[in-house]
Amino acid sequence: MDFELQSLRLADAAARKSPALVVLVADGFAGGEDALSALIARTVASGDFKTEAGAQLFVYGAAGMVPERVVLAGIGDGSPARVRKAVGTAVGALRGGPAKAVTLCFAQPAEAEALRAAVLALADASFTYSATKSKPKDKKEPPRIGKAVLGVPEPGPLREALQQAVAVARGVELAREWANRPGNHATPTMLADAARQLGKLPRIGCEVLGPKEVARLGMGAFQAVAQGSRQELRFVVLRYDGAARSQAPVVLVGKGITFDTGGISIKPAPEMDEMKFDMSGAASVLGVFRALAELKPALNVVGLIPACENMPDGGAIKPGDVVTSMSGQTIEILNTDAEGRLVLCDALTYAERFKPCAVIDIATLTGACVIALGGVRSGMFASDDALAQALQSAGEQALDPCWRMPLDDEYGEALKSNFADVGNVGGRPAGAVTAAKFLQRFADKFSWAHLDIAGTAWKGGSAKGATGRPVGLLVHYLLMQAGRPARAAGEPARRPRTKGQAGARAGKSGKV
Ligand code: BES
Ligand code: MN
Ligand code: ZN
Repeated sequence: MDFELQSLRLADAAARKSPALVVLVADGFAGGEDALSALIARTVASGDFKTEAGAQLFVYGAAGMVPERVVLAGIGDGSPARVRKAVGTAVGALRGGPAKAVTLCFAQPAEAEALRAAVLALADASFTYSATKSKPKDKKEPPRIGKAVLGVPEPGPLREALQQAVAVARGVELAREWANRPGNHATPTMLADAARQLGKLPRIGCEVLGPKEVARLGMGAFQAVAQGSRQELRFVVLRYDGAARSQAPVVLVGKGITFDTGGISIKPAPEMDEMKFDMSGAASVLGVFRALAELKPALNVVGLIPACENMPDGGAIKPGDVVTSMSGQTIEILNTDAEGRLVLCDALTYAERFKPCAVIDIATLTGACVIALGGVRSGMFASDDALAQALQSAGEQALDPCWRMPLDDEYGEALKSNFADVGNVGGRPAGAVTAAKFLQRFADKFSWAHLDIAGTAWKGGSAKGATGRPVGLLVHYLLMQAGRPARAAGEPARRPRTKGQAGARAGKSGKV
């Protein structure tokens, strides 16, 4: 979707041609003398239109209205969350109809946060997945809402917020696109090719390692997961260079299991198709890089994606097998379905070479996290309080929230093994926590956080599809680190700590 910010008062919006005008109306609306204000006041007074978030009224052919249809949409107290709900409902109702463009106006002055919420909701509600649908030659493409004009009385101070929201929306869109693709259209090789495409964007570099290089690095845990599949593994190293080389980067690690059958510890058939979403962490890393290329913040970011399938063929790992991770720790694979932590642990060890200021891994890691937090908040674990705080607040501001979970040492005891340094599962109690405790063993050299997005990365049921979370949270966090004004008023800008030496680089450099 294309976005444009225009200077529009209600009277201008009513006089402007548009297939659909959506007017966001907050509680206690007090308009001016113009026809649109009068219309809103009348519908509110009649009781036909309520200003609570999600309530809406379609109006056709009212006096003085040039747009083909006017949608009055309530936003309650006008908070970003309510704006998002209102825009989602209004655009959802217009979707599939004849309107291919919308004008969206605030009936009262809008804050940057509300505008950002409107942009993200517009992009979200107009997203369509098409990669694996046929396009019949005789039928026209279904009408899509391809353009949005955002009308505010004073656009000047909102330009930066718009640019930021549009960049996040494009990142979310890319993440949704890739996470939605089925396993046979998003193999590890295809995922790596998508990363290579990003490598063509300004300030972004991409390097892709294959099975030989990964073996040479000693990534025995990652290799163990990949060995049961006919698809070759890929290890993607993305870099965004927005600051001096001496500045320590933030490293993002995305779980890239392009399909998770469970392996020999095979999953039950119902809903197994949803395990195509098991590379949502990787897709979110791609989405973040897409947004970075557009926003060009002053910081360095590295993206690591261990990508493979978890399949049960004759060469697959078996319960009880012991493998040696890149860190040297041996792991007893008690359940081959706990594969995410196996690919992530070697990526975490690989992250050490960047001497990072923070490492954040993003993974659809445990069904237990879905039980704990559902689809509202992602699980967040952190070894560093400042990092936890920053992620928590980024999530709130981006309307992509997370919730901190514990990492007490006692939880780690469940991972004891009689045959290796550590087992890969810790039983059913606190399953999301024991998974994080496993990862923490490989993240002791840097400040680290883990986002378990198993509940938030996609929706099931009739609305089945990827959400693009937590691209919003991550981009917000990174902009805060770069000292950009994504922060709320009054909150101080934060700069990344510079730790370690200049020029710490991956083994190879440049684009492949
Ligand atoms: N990809 C799954 C986690 C998952 C399951 C996400 C369901 C969303 C919905 C992960 O690889 C997995 O299978 N985890 C196991 C771990 C267990 C064997 C300790 C799980 O959660 O059941
Ligand atoms: Mn699994
Ligand atoms: Zn998995």
